[in-house]
Amino acid sequence: MGKWWQSAVIYQIYPRSFKDTNGDGIGDLAGIISKLDYLEKLGVTALWLCPVYRSPNDDNGYDISDYRQIMAEFGTLGQMEDLIKKAKQRGIKIVMDLVVNHTSDEHQWFIEAKNDPKSKYRDYYIWRDPKAGKEPTELKSVFGGSAWEYDEQSGQYYFHQFSRKQPDLNWENPVVRKEVYEMMNFWVAKGIGGFRMDVIDLIGKVPEKNITSNGPKLHEYLKEMHQNVLADTKLVTVGETWGATPDIAKLYSDPEQKELSMVFQFEHVQLDQFPNRPKWFTRPLSVVKLKEVITKWQVELADVGWNSLFWNNHDLPRAVSAFGDDGIYRVQSAKMLAIVLHLLKGTPYIYQGEEIGMTNLKFTDIAQIDDIESKNMYQEYKAKGYSNEELLQMISHKGRDNARTPMQWDATKNAGFSSAKPWLAVAPNYQTINVKAALADKESIFYTYQKLIAYRKSHEVISVGDYSLVETKAEVFAYVRSYEGQSVLVIANFSKNVQKVALPKYQIQTPFIANYDNSPRDLAQLELRPYEALAFEITDHL
Ligand code: NOJ
Repeated sequence: MGKWWQSAVIYQIYPRSFKDTNGDGIGDLAGIISKLDYLEKLGVTALWLCPVYRSPNDDNGYDISDYRQIMAEFGTLGQMEDLIKKAKQRGIKIVMDLVVNHTSDEHQWFIEAKNDPKSKYRDYYIWRDPKAGKEPTELKSVFGGSAWEYDEQSGQYYFHQFSRKQPDLNWENPVVRKEVYEMMNFWVAKGIGGFRMDVIDLIGKVPEKNITSNGPKLHEYLKEMHQNVLADTKLVTVGETWGATPDIAKLYSDPEQKELSMVFQFEHVQLDQFPNRPKWFTRPLSVVKLKEVITKWQVELADVGWNSLFWNNHDLPRAVSAFGDDGIYRVQSAKMLAIVLHLLKGTPYIYQGEEIGMTNLKFTDIAQIDDIESKNMYQEYKAKGYSNEELLQMISHKGRDNARTPMQWDATKNAGFSSAKPWLAVAPNYQTINVKAALADKESIFYTYQKLIAYRKSHEVISVGDYSLVETKAEVFAYVRSYEGQSVLVIANFSKNVQKVALPKYQIQTPFIANYDNSPRDLAQLELRPYEALAFEITDHL
């Protein structure tokens, strides 16, 4: 038997947008607890919670001011313990977000560091003298502007790869590392199931040399973290690593290396972008490229390391809007995406609302936007001469608020998310796209997910079997999984067009899962309908 997370499916919750129970328009822990039955019904093994720690919310919880307290809007530490316990009773583990590349500037460490340059906390962060009266280096923040912020009081700059309210921690300092491990152990002792590690590939930064990701000491730090926290536990760890290649991913996720269980790599979600241009500038997705990239990762991590599988998260557009069709083929294409992803090798992640086919929203006014990244981009590009319409279109296409609109529970006011006005607009399609409607319809996207999750848990061919691509038409993605004499064939049409495909080797077969109907199909002369996806437990005829 492999590790528990090798046959697991992890569900990602953005707590702010999941379910509000106290009527302040903001999701909370009690809301998550109230939906555990729903999550159990879906069948997921673990919940990754985006940060729930105390935070002034400059970046919605990714700016932490106290790692051992819960954000006041979300609830209390007692409720967090209750959530861990109640989830466990249902066989569900809680995966915490670990944000340790930076803290909030309202963290006590930073307050002390700034107020007193002589304090021991000064060296918890990265301070540098000006260079020729200016920023120490040219490095830019991910959210726009310089990565250096001037501190009048001391005449030095501090380093921040995200907003100026997110100062970078100095991982060179062994005391900082020790603080982080102790904090992690505090949560481990509470019975959590693992950590999702925010931008973990940035912790080995060397600003002087313009090195941000994949710094020289990164893997040394992770090995140390493993020794101090993870060794001899069953915790799952998944690192967010925008800069990972398959070789780098193996360094993190080869069990021999004693670092992490797996990483999120982002190659497939950037295929609609231009190399070296900001994410806002896009081109149509090439299915050929998508197959190539997915196949590369499946093959490269086949024997060493482990893949995470996902279409979307809280920073990305909605899966069905980005990779499928959120118009007339919304239901078919959402199910198609589920079938393709959930039968691959790796650990699948479902982002809240994906299981009911939630879509991007068409934002029409910058006042509707909450996300710091989108707001900064809007200002920056407005100044460069882009029009309001162009910018809102870019934000509606790629902005992070698409994923953060409140979860659509039912057709009542505010989509059943809250009795008060939600902190972010609800997508107007909530009257048709909601959990209540999905649960009432046996043919809904929800039940396709439910079936796929159960199938993975009970079929080793899916959790550990080999992967091979089946050559076919450009817009058709077909692959075979095989393990100990069992094989599964997956065929998916990634387009609106009917696709004729011939796979004579397999002849007539009955799919065990499909997004139109389960009638037997002649694979020697197959006509795939728009976004049609089929999966077969195959027997060869030749
Ligand atoms: C990645 C997180 O997913 C994102 O939401 C956040 O803004 C940055 N890291 C900074 O913590």
